[in-house]
Amino acid sequence: MGIREFYFLVLIFTQSLLVYVEAQTNNLDVSALKALQDAWMGTPPSWDGLDPCGNPPWEGIGCTNSRITSITLASMGISGRLTGDIASLTELRTLDLSNNKGLSGNIPPSIGNLKKLSILLMEGCSFSGEIPDTFGSLEQLVTLSLTSNDLTGPIPPSLGNLKMLHWLDVAENRLTGTIPVSTATSPGLDQLVNTKHFHFGGNQLSGTIPPTLFNSNMTLIHLLFENNQLTGSIPSTIGLLRNLEVLRLDRNRLSGTVPPNISNLLSVHEFYLSSNQLTGPIPNIEKLTSMISLDLSNNSFDTTSFPSWYSSLSSLMTLAMENTQLIGEVPAALFSIPRLQSVVLRNNKLNGTLDLGSGPSSQLQLVDLQNNSIGGYTERPDQRNLPIILVENPVCEGVDRSYCRPLQSNPSYSTPPNNCIPLTCSNDQVSSPNCQCAYPFTGNITLRAPSITGLGSSSLYSSLESSIMSNFTSYGLPVDSVSIRNPIRNTDNYLILQLGFFPLDTDRFNRTGVYMTAFALNNQTYKPPDIFGPYIFSGEQYNHFQGAGSGSSKSNTGIIIGAAVGGFVLVVLAILAGVYAFRQKKRAEKADKQNNPFALWNPDKSSGSIPQLKGTKPFTFEEMRKYSNNFSEVNDIGTGGYGKVYRGTLPDGKMIAIKRAMKGSMQGAIEFKSEIELLSRVHHKNVVSLVGFCFDQSEQMLVYEYIPNGTLKDSLSGQSGFRLDWARRLRIALGSARGLQYLHELADPPIIHRDIKSNNILLDDRLNAKVADFGLSKAIGNPDQTHITTQVKGTMGYMDPEYYMTNQLTDKSDVYSFGVTLLELVTAKQPIEKGKYIVREVRERMDKTKVLYNIQEVIDPFLLGTALDGFEKFVDVALRCVMETGADRPTMGQVVKEIENIMQLAGLNPDVESTATSANYEWTSQGFNHPYNDESLFMYSGAFPRSSLEP
Ligand SMILES: *[C@@H]1O[C@H](CO)[C@@H](O)[C@H](O)[C@H]1NC(C)=O
Repeated sequence: MGIREFYFLVLIFTQSLLVYVEAQTNNLDVSALKALQDAWMGTPPSWDGLDPCGNPPWEGIGCTNSRITSITLASMGISGRLTGDIASLTELRTLDLSNNKGLSGNIPPSIGNLKKLSILLMEGCSFSGEIPDTFGSLEQLVTLSLTSNDLTGPIPPSLGNLKMLHWLDVAENRLTGTIPVSTATSPGLDQLVNTKHFHFGGNQLSGTIPPTLFNSNMTLIHLLFENNQLTGSIPSTIGLLRNLEVLRLDRNRLSGTVPPNISNLLSVHEFYLSSNQLTGPIPNIEKLTSMISLDLSNNSFDTTSFPSWYSSLSSLMTLAMENTQLIGEVPAALFSIPRLQSVVLRNNKLNGTLDLGSGPSSQLQLVDLQNNSIGGYTERPDQRNLPIILVENPVCEGVDRSYCRPLQSNPSYSTPPNNCIPLTCSNDQVSSPNCQCAYPFTGNITLRAPSITGLGSSSLYSSLESSIMSNFTSYGLPVDSVSIRNPIRNTDNYLILQLGFFPLDTDRFNRTGVYMTAFALNNQTYKPPDIFGPYIFSGEQYNHFQGAGSGSSKSNTGIIIGAAVGGFVLVVLAILAGVYAFRQKKRAEKADKQNNPFALWNPDKSSGSIPQLKGTKPFTFEEMRKYSNNFSEVNDIGTGGYGKVYRGTLPDGKMIAIKRAMKGSMQGAIEFKSEIELLSRVHHKNVVSLVGFCFDQSEQMLVYEYIPNGTLKDSLSGQSGFRLDWARRLRIALGSARGLQYLHELADPPIIHRDIKSNNILLDDRLNAKVADFGLSKAIGNPDQTHITTQVKGTMGYMDPEYYMTNQLTDKSDVYSFGVTLLELVTAKQPIEKGKYIVREVRERMDKTKVLYNIQEVIDPFLLGTALDGFEKFVDVALRCVMETGADRPTMGQVVKEIENIMQLAGLNPDVESTATSANYEWTSQGFNHPYNDESLFMYSGAFPRSSLEP
């Protein structure tokens, strides 16, 4: 058991509510704690009691033999000053005041009296002034973290006396001065031979890194000096740190040559020297074969061709050598390092022809060669989708290829539900990964030297989630699940994740739950897998504690009685709620009539107040009834969650489809009005257009043009009675792509369809495709907005996994669904059939070296044996549309272009309408389902094929 785990268990034991404490708390301890309480706001309610070590003890207080031995109050929302009274708690071993932003002022020097203190955590508060020199007398100290405060002045040399110190973190303050080393008269940090972590980043430390700071007795594994003002050269003594795993010296003002003996650091896997003024040759790191992440960018090394040492770094995942005066060619063999993910070689003078070789790493996520002199690129057919950036190279002059575009933003991540349907929660509760509404305890975790490329992948984050949970469970923390959201990189290249912890078996944490969870992270009791590197946690204040009491002293009987009484109360409440809802509905119905936003629209008054509704006619209920022959059954052409769809005929003979909302599914008048306004602005020959609406006699109806040939789905399944040959499928693909492109790029405001599928693509009498059903459409409000956050809706099998995971809807979500539809055109199979997911089926069978990509088995048998010109290119487009991340998918504009190209290569003119009519086809049945029904929607319920969510 490690020392941190040991202290954590001691803490749990001394704080356990089950420990029966005979003696009353020592008087001196009580008065010291009372004095602290007087100086603080926001202490837990249980602190109003008489006996801090009583049964139960005060929240956040741990005792042994009537003495207070721990104070753990992380994220409790405490404010005020830490007074010298703390010094009277002479048995104190653990003090965790982290993440109380309201704690400010100087740290009292008398803290040095706490001779037994072993853990001192004051992360993320607002302490100012200098670090007291008296810290040097805390001889038992194992963990000292003062990160993210407002501390100034130097690192006290006296810290060199802390022989037990394991973790020294003073990062993210405003510390100045030099790094202290021992002299004849004074101690220094070189004496800290048991310390594993020097975390000094993000301060204003200056002067050189003293050569005597490092010696062969030291056991440092993490040396983080990044983002300071250190000058001079890197001392060669650094080669003595044989255990070093992470070295960050980046973003300083270091100069001179890198000492050759850094090649002694055989365990280093994170190595950052970027953004200094280093000169001389690029260091030879051939022997550092554990290297995972290397950044030498932005230095003044001698001009040189690409170093050959890369070939021995077989674990390399990230290589950054931006602006390092590289010339000559990039060796193709670099890309065959098996786990390589990211290569950033921007702003050099690399030339020649880029070639990734025949077997580049399957993990590649980024090859950034912007602003070099590369004149050619050997793009192999199977490498089309690789994220290569060659902007500002001769090869891209006047060329519009995907590799000639700048970097697209990275995708986001958000923990997906764990095989359950997320709930809609009230009172700002959040649906947990296990789909329970609760108030999570939240905070950020900052990974200071992650070996992760870019923003990482979803599999990486789910591994972090499970590692946190298994650690928490083993310590009995009352945490049900953890969520991770919104990874970002800040300017220090730290990776920051938002964590949410959900309470176990209840909807909110009590105080103990919060500070114990925070402590496990502040104290680094939880250690993530190596790839995540060192971290700090900054918990947020938790505002959802139950009532005023501690809530933890209830007996079991109390809970049982409480539950029984609660059950009865619930039934009564439910009845009352029902009555209330009924009344409200009546009231709302009344209000609706009085408050009719359509009142001003009366077309007879021609008030001119409805310019947005050009071409959209208001109908009365009476008219609707007449045109549909009294809503007769023969005219009933579809039923859905929304209501029924009737065929009708206008007096001029034009056929219409009337979508009539059922009573329960009507929208508010204002929403209905804005939906009509939106739909009435849509005019494109590949989009079904709105003819009019009816808002009369408490009815809501939408009137569309009638499209006679049903849905694409029915045609593909044979239900429509006619079959589509390859040329017609290409035309249908092009037509629907153009319709969708219009919605995305030309409609004002742009519209995300949200439910693209073969059932929503209709075929007119010339088999032209028309995109239909905007029941779920979303308009994007302002032009700068690129996505909208919504509850996930859509149809199973067509749904964009990224939208599903992040709730962020973009036009690329439609592109995904469209890609699935293209695969349907090829296979005539539904997206999910007999538990098989079409995307995976095609991907897995595909062999690009073979004719028809060797997927004959899944191609629509009707197509086999006919000429399938452009088939492979068509499959390529479809698969690009269903790429995992939206950024990798083409826009609809690009899809349109590509399908046009395919048609031209196949000898078809994309701009000539189909001359054939459906009459050319043999009808076998007239009884197909009509398309205007609104399919019932499925939310993701865990049946979504996992492989489509992961690369
Ligand atoms: C690339 O640059 C190197 C060094 O500047 C030069 O010797 C070589 O001829 C260049 N090669 C090409 C193909 O331009």
